Amino acid sequence: MRILVTAGPTREPLDDVRFLTNASSGRMGIACAAEARRRGHTVILVLGPTHLAPPRGVGTLRVTTAIEMKRAVERAFGACDALVMSAAVSDYRPARRVPGKIKKRRGRMTLALVRNPDILAGLSRRKGRRIFAGFAVEAARIEERAAVKLLAKRLDFIVADRPEAMGADRQNAVLLTDDGERVLFRGVTKRRIARAVLDRIEALAARRRPR
Ligand code: CTP
Repeated sequence: MRILVTAGPTREPLDDVRFLTNASSGRMGIACAAEARRRGHTVILVLGPTHLAPPRGVGTLRVTTAIEMKRAVERAFGACDALVMSAAVSDYRPARRVPGKIKKRRGRMTLALVRNPDILAGLSRRKGRRIFAGFAVEAARIEERAAVKLLAKRLDFIVADRPEAMGADRQNAVLLTDDGERVLFRGVTKRRIARAVLDRIEALAARRRPR
């Protein structure tokens, strides 16, 4: 199969030296890309700014902002059979990138932000027979919120975890499928979750293949 994976945070510049970002390390998506490659799939990894190296044998496109990520994903989307959207895409970006460096002034400063596009939601209209896997970090009402995203973004399944899982070696998570299945993971590695993600994708692909 041809599997498109996104990983890492995005970085949204305020000026030439500052940016907004989040705590994503990219490890989950990198683990998915590595697992897919290990199983012999062709993998394209769209990787946000992280110090982690992409796995060997994986075609990697490095991006910085959500808009760049969207462009890279859309370019690779046509030729893919499955999309694993594990990147923590910034939902907002500064309304304006100030050239040079913003100077401090007296008093309070207010930052104007505008919405970034939702990459996954945008592609769900062109889903076709592709398999979509999503991820969600939720601080509360995890399963309920993840289930809403699963439906809204037309995912085949979603893996949800808590903010503590970001960058952790071992974590809890829950995998929800569009047909109501629910799998709990307790104290597992990201590699273990990546294996479960790839098991699902391969099983769904086998079911969809004409006999
Ligand atoms: N996602 C995306 N583009 C965005 C935001 C999220 O493609 N601009 C994808 C993520 O890669 C993930 C899924 O959508 O697979 C859910 O991301 P999450 O940030 O949890 O959800 P949001 O829809 O942004 O909802 P909220 O931040 O309000 O919880």
